[in-house]
Amino acid sequence: MTGAPAVGVVGAGYVGLTTAACLAHLGHRVVCVEADARKARRLRDGEVPISEPGLTELVRAGLAAATLSFTTEVRRLRRAGIVFLCLPTPMGADGDADLGALEAELVTLSGVLARECVLVTKSTVPVGTARRAARMLARPDVRLVSNPEFLREGHAVRDFLRPSRIVIGAEDAGAAERVAALYAGVDAPVLRTDPASAELAKYASNAFLAVKLSYMNELAELCERLGADITEVGRVMGLDARIGTAFLAPGPGWGGSCLPKDTRALLRSAPESGGALSVVRAAVLANEAQRERILGKVCRAVTGRPDGSLAGLRIGVLGLTFKAGTDDLRHSPALAIAHGLAERGATVTGYDPEVAATEAARLAPVQVADDPYLVGKDAAGIVLLTEWPQFRELDWARLAATTERALVVDTRNLLDTDRLARAGFAQVRLGGKAPRPAD
Ligand code: UGA
Repeated sequence: MTGAPAVGVVGAGYVGLTTAACLAHLGHRVVCVEADARKARRLRDGEVPISEPGLTELVRAGLAAATLSFTTEVRRLRRAGIVFLCLPTPMGADGDADLGALEAELVTLSGVLARECVLVTKSTVPVGTARRAARMLARPDVRLVSNPEFLREGHAVRDFLRPSRIVIGAEDAGAAERVAALYAGVDAPVLRTDPASAELAKYASNAFLAVKLSYMNELAELCERLGADITEVGRVMGLDARIGTAFLAPGPGWGGSCLPKDTRALLRSAPESGGALSVVRAAVLANEAQRERILGKVCRAVTGRPDGSLAGLRIGVLGLTFKAGTDDLRHSPALAIAHGLAERGATVTGYDPEVAATEAARLAPVQVADDPYLVGKDAAGIVLLTEWPQFRELDWARLAATTERALVVDTRNLLDTDRLARAGFAQVRLGGKAPRPAD
């Protein structure tokens, strides 16, 4: 890379790497600092360790154009005008966001950052972090800006380059302007606000999505009791522009590295600021109940009783990641349910297009197959847990031929009912009509 980098990015996780690669794509000179030497080396070779559409191409293009570089050395940031903090803020033992990595980095950065540098937090951080970070940094010449990310895994590059909004929370108008200028090539509304509002807006958005999903999951259960169909109900709701069509699909519960951690972190901050946020609390509880409800549903379908033992039975599982389009297993409801089935005595074999059979030791006692047709072998039932579209196209007759019982519990309402029926499968849906008999 020639000349000093204009932009520094600390952390090469899915947020940091996407930010670095996309900013390079937008024409900035970017250096990305990753503490893990092996990961940094792989990235320098153009090897992207996460599955994110379009990211490898952008990283390689940035490397080839010398607009993007990777290093383990924080001191490479000393001439950067703007530095983004993209460090993980995982869920701590008490539900609070764990800011350990971020705080440690501030201490290091204090002695490294250039004069008048702008330090931007992209990580999801509790309200007040920008203010606290400024105190910890003890560099009055450095301005802090909160610029939360709204990237979905599996769509991160697209969400960065075509976002619904860019939020810039800053006390200092000049610093806000400098950060906004980085996004000059992006067509999206830029909302300038104070740091606390920017920080809270991120949590508020994720918590709202969680509330919406828990509501749909509970409505799905009500549909089953009342003989309605959640797909029909959702269709009607979605056409109201105030509700919108997105995030209305019921499922095995919401998971991933963001919604579970952010709802809990938001709840942790609620008593301190006087608000109860009972709606968010209820959404979290409903999500925990959803796992049990799905387990009960599978047991009922297989044994006739929601608390029936699965001992001695084989269950096949389709999908292990927390949603389709990612290889991420963190807080995956699919994986939790697969483990729950094993706890109830079943021998569970799972298949996921993004999970290699070599991962098996990590996921034990769930066995991992590298062929979807192996999950059906002698199975008393198949449970579809992640909405990978390719599951729709499986040769279900071939699966039926190997199962002990041709029964599928479709927790994503993904599969075509008629096609399954033709293959001899009985289908149990979520919030849907009664299962069709296999014969
Ligand atoms: C979420 C937010 O959607 C992003 O806007 C945010 O930037 C990101 O967290 C973050 O904080 O970094 P992500 O974790 O990638 O993104 O996952 P989502 O696409 O939101 O899905 C969350 C969960 O909801 C998944 O388990 C998914 O299967 C479930 N879901 C989603 C449903 O069950 N039904 C739906 O209709 C939609």
